Amino acid sequence: MELGFTSLEQECENILLPVAGTVPKWLSGTLIRNGAAKFEIGKESYNHWFDGLAMLHKFTFRNGQILYTNKFLKGHTFRKSMKKGEIVYPEFATNPKYSLPSRVFLYATGHYTDNASVNVSKVGDSFITMTETPHRVEFDPESLNTLGRFHYMDRVTGHLTTVHPQFDYEKEQIFNYITRFSHTSTYNIYRIRKGSARREIISTIPVKRAAYMHSFGMTENYVILTEFPLFINPLRFLLTGSPFIDNLFWKPEHGTTFLVIDKNSGKMIGKFKSDPFFAFHHINCYEETGNVIVDIVSYEDPSIIKYLYLDKLRQGNFLIPTPQIRRYYLDLSNNKVLKKILSEDFVEFPRINYQRCNTKNYNFVYGISDHESNGFTNKLVKFCIKSKSFKCWHKENNFPGEPVFVAAPPVTAEEDEGVILSLVLDTEKHKTYLLILDATSFLEIARANLPFAVPFGSHGQYFE
Ligand SMILES: [Fe+2]
Repeated sequence: MELGFTSLEQECENILLPVAGTVPKWLSGTLIRNGAAKFEIGKESYNHWFDGLAMLHKFTFRNGQILYTNKFLKGHTFRKSMKKGEIVYPEFATNPKYSLPSRVFLYATGHYTDNASVNVSKVGDSFITMTETPHRVEFDPESLNTLGRFHYMDRVTGHLTTVHPQFDYEKEQIFNYITRFSHTSTYNIYRIRKGSARREIISTIPVKRAAYMHSFGMTENYVILTEFPLFINPLRFLLTGSPFIDNLFWKPEHGTTFLVIDKNSGKMIGKFKSDPFFAFHHINCYEETGNVIVDIVSYEDPSIIKYLYLDKLRQGNFLIPTPQIRRYYLDLSNNKVLKKILSEDFVEFPRINYQRCNTKNYNFVYGISDHESNGFTNKLVKFCIKSKSFKCWHKENNFPGEPVFVAAPPVTAEEDEGVILSLVLDTEKHKTYLLILDATSFLEIARANLPFAVPFGSHGQYFE
């Protein structure tokens, strides 16, 4: 398992992968995945799985063949780190050695890391990589070459954002939010219209203490910020020089609050208080009979974050907390919250048939899971919400990553008609392969072998 957290130095361009099985002819597009791939610089090492330097991986599907390219994201952080031979910018759980004046200077001038290793997206015609600092980096989708810092055409400022923008396919708009730390911090929800690179703030929510939220929910009419009681102390972060992760404080007595904001007017519709819980990933949200329904991968507390230090993971310490798939019903007229547990089995990196089902009632969730609770991510699952049943894919010593669902044509197809794409690390063969499952049966239909082992990545997207 150490292999999944070992640096990969090799880059390659447009190699034809050997395929076993049959890749569907209709699959004609590109999967681009992001993730940390280099965990040491000179004599220094990153501490946490979320910290390493970003590498992009591209799989192009054409006529049943698969071409593969992988390249490091060569943004400012990468280039400066390589030049100096040391870690130069703070990451999630690793800080460089720097003085208080340097810290103040860096933050006052917006010099955050642009090691955008967590997800990829598209704004207008630009392909971008994302991390939780405001810096996005643009890349060429053909070569994966880094094109430089991506600049929005606006003056929106902030310090912390999410790598999980939401897409409204009816309005053809992107939604996201950015937190600005100050004496009174604010969550700033924005939209980007089709073809534009300009963020329009639709709502600014002042808060006494800002919470760490990795993703958010969206329905047809609302944005839902699920404010876990995991609060950030930005001043302490600045003054002590301790990593960001050490400045997150769990205050369960505050409970978790769902902030429901109207997407059109920006008005706060309501604040819904529930028991405290923590999550990285919302699965889906939709409106039904006066309720806003929030499906979310929920942990009792945020201790999962501290289980993902590289030293623990490399030692094979995988007794990580098990989340539940929960459904929260937010009753808009009575300001009540009802909780229902949909599944108590481990599911993370949840994906759905996003284009068809996001903001709508749906039935299938795909994710990674743990077989017999003895492995980090050694199983892929398909969860049926209606029947509460699972379909699984598991192979001994094979560790799959986030399953990306790609819908089969035509648009009238069933919700689960399509394929699942997942990068799988085979620790016996010391190689990674791209696995293609039939999403309906959850059986393997093809795999394409890479020439090396790829460390466990984070998120990826399929582009037509
Ligand atoms: Fe995520």
